[in-house]
Amino acid sequence: MEQSAMRIGTIDIDRPIILAPMEDVTDRAFRQLCKQHGADIVYTEFISAEALRRGVEKSIRKITVADHERPVAVQIFGNTVESMVEAAAIAETYEPDYLDINFGCPVKKVAGRGAGAALLKEPEKLSEIASAVVNAVSLPVTAKTRIGWDHDSINITDTVRRLEDAGIRAVAVHGRTRSDMYKGRADWGRIAEAKQACSIPVIANGDVWLPEDAVAMFERTGADGIMIGRGSIGNPFIFEQAKSLVKEGVRLSAPSYRQRIQAAVDHLRLSLEYKGEKYGVLEMRRHYSTYLKGLPGVSKVRNLLVREPDPAVIVELLREFEAACEALDREGLLKEGGENLNDHSPRLILNY
Ligand SMILES: Cc1cc2nc3c(=O)[nH]c(=O)nc-3n(C[C@H](O)[C@H](O)[C@H](O)COP(=O)(O)O)c2cc1C
Repeated sequence: MEQSAMRIGTIDIDRPIILAPMEDVTDRAFRQLCKQHGADIVYTEFISAEALRRGVEKSIRKITVADHERPVAVQIFGNTVESMVEAAAIAETYEPDYLDINFGCPVKKVAGRGAGAALLKEPEKLSEIASAVVNAVSLPVTAKTRIGWDHDSINITDTVRRLEDAGIRAVAVHGRTRSDMYKGRADWGRIAEAKQACSIPVIANGDVWLPEDAVAMFERTGADGIMIGRGSIGNPFIFEQAKSLVKEGVRLSAPSYRQRIQAAVDHLRLSLEYKGEKYGVLEMRRHYSTYLKGLPGVSKVRNLLVREPDPAVIVELLREFEAACEALDREGLLKEGGENLNDHSPRLILNY
């Protein structure tokens, strides 16, 4: 299928492989790690328009981006035109490369309050919010959405046309309905329909776990870019792997246990740098099991890692674990996690 570079404002990238916005995951540390491993564009976690308006410190932290992350998008969600316009203007002062509106979040605390995916049931309001935000800022504005509220009301072609009419510059489509949450397989056929229905760039999202999935997703959807969420958790290597296969046709080997342990150490160091020792250590705890998934003795070392407050000891524990893997490896006894390092992360998904 013919592909051309994807353009959003001054960003112009051939078939970008993008880190999806994920609450409690895509903070500065993880964004930087994914960038180092080849992510072409990264997104912040979603940020509540209301909280931003009220100057809530946590939201201000979430919205702060660094130059070395560029291109980086800030994502906001909200349920009124006024709050979204005000939040967009605030977000613009933090100078992301573009601003993204969340029209897809299925969780109660968002969709239950008329924001995120709930706007798929109110197409007029969705249009109104999108065009008001577009008019409120000089940054390019994009949107991220799902294919519909439920299977009786799939309206993705109408949604993308509305977004295009509102001046939205690109749309990321997660191939599930709100009622699917994360069940079943993402429907890439619906993403292909969305691509056919509008002339703005479409970013396909949902169920890229392996580099081959990235190739297949471009082929089957005709999308301009693809976005990877869960497949990158504990596995930032997916970006360089997918890029190499999509763009050069070269299949990179799966990361070794050494590389995976090193990624966990790198992630911890970035986490400490940006959050300080207390929160850096605490917030890393949810990540160890995904970095070490499938390696021998992982549950034992994980139990130690998630209780340890001292980052130096954590690094030591990881190095000891690496040495234990090395010993098994020398004897030909090491079974690594397999190709699909991260087919699901139930603990993280439960929170979302
Ligand atoms: C833990 C978690 C947090 C998420 N947070 C957000 C968010 O803040 N904003 C958003 O638009 N989507 C969010 N999502 C949805 C993802 O961006 C993505 O659309 C979804 O996971 C499907 O892509 P995947 O199959 O590559 O994971 C989140 C998903 C997960 C698992």
